[in-house]
Amino acid sequence: MNIVIFGAPGSGKGTQSEKLIAEYGLEHISTGELLRDHIARGTALGKLADTYISNGQLIPDEFMIDVLDDIFKQDPAKAEKGVIFDGFPRTVAQAEALSELLARYGSDVHAVVGLEVEEDELVRRMLERGKQSGRSDDNLDTIKKRLEVYHRQTSPLRDYYMGKGKYHAINGNGTVDGIFGDIKTALDGQKA
Ligand code: AP5
Ligand code: MG
Repeated sequence: MNIVIFGAPGSGKGTQSEKLIAEYGLEHISTGELLRDHIARGTALGKLADTYISNGQLIPDEFMIDVLDDIFKQDPAKAEKGVIFDGFPRTVAQAEALSELLARYGSDVHAVVGLEVEEDELVRRMLERGKQSGRSDDNLDTIKKRLEVYHRQTSPLRDYYMGKGKYHAINGNGTVDGIFGDIKTALDGQKA
């Protein structure tokens, strides 16, 4: 099963991905983590990504789609094991590229888990994390830009996947375990 974990910055994608991995034994692809790793290693991709990330902007689609392509070329077995996509896709172009890519391995996106969290809570979580995370985008200025980019470029994917009958809206306010319980119910219901 390939699952997209979807939601605004700070909605809990990374947190819930960890729990999904433990429960379903899936692979995890977090494009944000991957880019931060490139930045830390000073690669060409990292140098390109650095300015976009600290300004709260998306890395252009053509680069991100190539990054995904490379991951599957290096490890085609990933598509068979099933993947949690965290932070990808973020645009309709990325969603279409993801379907095409998975189709090459005889697979598809099976479910999209949408974590829906109030804006005040998103800001609170990211500011709190920013006290320790060292992330260049966990400051109020950049958080505002990330939320704006989310509304403009990423949130249309909600309707996109809803139209395909794949979107599961999850209330992302509340406790980590409570939210995970709701995700499991939605996914187990889909499998049945
Ligand atoms: P990315 O790393 O994907 O960040 P993001 O989408 O902004 O989301 P976060 O990682 O901040 O939050 P999260 O939803 O994972 O929540 P978390 O579990 O950490 O992307 C960063 C940047 O990289 C982008 O802005 C862009 O520039 C670039 N990028 C990445 N992918 C790209 C793509 N595909 N195309 C183009 N550019 C791309 O939780 C947040 C905090 O809240 C944590 O401290 C957590 O402990 C806490 N928390 C979690 N759940 C709860 C809860 N239920 N109650 C209270 N606290 C909670
Ligand atoms: Mg994350």
